[in-house]
This record gives sequence, structure tokens and C-alpha cells, in this order.
Amino acid sequence: MSKSVKDYVRSISDFPEEGVLFRDITPVIQDPQGFRLALEGMQELIGDTQFDVIVAAESRGFLFGAPLADRYGKGVTLLRKKGKLPWKTVSQSYELEYGSAEVEMHEDAILPGQKVLIVDDLIATGGTVEAAVKLVEKLGGEVVMAVFLMELTDLKGRERLKGCEVKSVIKYE
Ligand code: PRP
Ligand code: HPA
Repeated sequence: MSKSVKDYVRSISDFPEEGVLFRDITPVIQDPQGFRLALEGMQELIGDTQFDVIVAAESRGFLFGAPLADRYGKGVTLLRKKGKLPWKTVSQSYELEYGSAEVEMHEDAILPGQKVLIVDDLIATGGTVEAAVKLVEKLGGEVVMAVFLMELTDLKGRERLKGCEVKSVIKYE
């Protein structure tokens, strides 16, 4: 039988701390067939959704955002952790399980009225993508969809994104 994306995901117990079962996507992208399946799965979810630009989240999101942008003939712009972007930025802080973090985008990353597709490898608590949506909207863009390779459903990340279409290729509890 042909393989699916889940066949390439490696599950690691007690990483990064005891009690966590970490779903590792590195074997997916390491294998040409796995990587192709992942990108095709994301493309299937995007379907004929119209968008102008992809926003990809640092760092694992870059791995999927960039090739997808190329497949659609679009550009890719970056959501990065604080202090990494060299030009003028807008920033947004968000809550982590312990403490908080801040992400940034360049002020000119999105033009007013542009339709944006957000791409990341994973939605867990939804904090990262919620911050991305806020930044896109701050810049006058409209998020038409957020697409992920993987969703950790128990963490209920999609509930933070009411009003935004959220899709994921594979789901784990
Ligand atoms: C991971 C993942 C997502 C985010 C999802 O990134 O790549 O961006 O966490 O979690 P959330 O839904 O709870 O916000 P991480 O910040 O670990 O950075 P990395 O991609 O550089 O490893
Ligand atoms: N896999 C990958 N990244 C993660 C996970 C996971 O299970 N949990 C939080 N970030």
C-alpha cells in the first residue's frame, strides 16, 4: 500500500520535557516522497482559494511556505521571532505555556487589501498563528486561510481563530 504523511512522522516520548509526545516532522521532509506528499496534501487543502501572498512562520513554516509559494507563482513573506528582521517592523506578543514570546513582520510585508495565506508546519495552542493573523490585519491584509501540515487537536488552537479558515493535513490528539 502506498505511504501517507503520517507514515513519515516520528513520535518521540518525553521531548522537550517529560510527559510530552513530540511529533517530529524532520523525517517527512528528509524523504523526497514524504516531502512531496506533505506539499501535495497542503495544496489539496488550499484548493482554488485565491490569495496574493504567503506568510510563513519561523522556522519550520519556512520549509513549507516557500515551496508552496513557488508552486502557486506567489511571493512568500516572513513571520519571524523578535529581533531577526532588519527593516521597520510591526510586532505582536503572544502567550506560551510558560511566559510569552514576540513575533514580527516587516511593515511592507503585506500591502493593504492583499489576501494572505498563512503557512506553518504545526498548529498547537494556536498562539503563533493568532499573532500572525493580528499582524496581517494590522498591515491591512486579509487572511483567507491558515494551512498546516499537522494539528494537535487537544490543544484546541483552531478555537483561537474564529472567523478564519483553518486546515491541516494530519491530526494528532
Ligand atoms: C512551532 C511550530 C509553530 C508553533 C506552533 O514553532 O513550528 O510555529 O510552534 O505552536 P503554537 O500553535 O502553540 O503557537 P517554534 O516556535 O517551536 O519554532 P521553530 O519552528 O523555529 O522550531
Ligand atoms: N511536534 C512539533 N512541534 C511541537 C509539538 C509537537 O508535538 N508540540 C509543540 N511543538
